Amino acid sequence: MHTVNPLSADTSLTLDQLRGEVASLLDGERDFIANMANVAAALYHSLRDVNWAGFYLQRGTDLVLGPFQGKPACVRIGPGRGVCGAAFEQRKTLIVPDVHEFPGHIACDSASQSEIVVPLLKEGRAIGVLDLDSPLLNRFSVEDAAALETVARLLLDGSDV
Ligand code: SME
Repeated sequence: MHTVNPLSADTSLTLDQLRGEVASLLDGERDFIANMANVAAALYHSLRDVNWAGFYLQRGTDLVLGPFQGKPACVRIGPGRGVCGAAFEQRKTLIVPDVHEFPGHIACDSASQSEIVVPLLKEGRAIGVLDLDSPLLNRFSVEDAAALETVARLLLDGSDV
């Protein structure tokens, strides 16, 4: 039996610490939407300097907004568009230290300065992306990328997708 919200109000949790918290959060529930919603909330509320955390899911040729925390965001991203479309098409994590330097970046919140997008891979096929934005430049490290990829894998393995 897991607690409903195992994440404390500690905003200094690292992504590495967060992996264990996410595993606990997913324990006993396989609904994909519910699990995405709680993962987005966990990431948004537990990490420092993150102003948006959420999901886009493949719907036909586009990526469409899924559960998230942060300001309202663009709903639909066309094929290959923005950081999300690029990470989805390349099926690899993209770390963008300065979004203004990324050709085609889609600005949903003018406060966002850096971004990381992790593809959601189910049996090698991309089904969506996990996206985090920061108001700081150069917020996301390769260690963050590895931890978020683990979070994405925990989410997919722990949900009926
Ligand atoms: N910046 C993203 C769009 C999604 S928002 O950041 C929430 C992109 O360029 O794909």
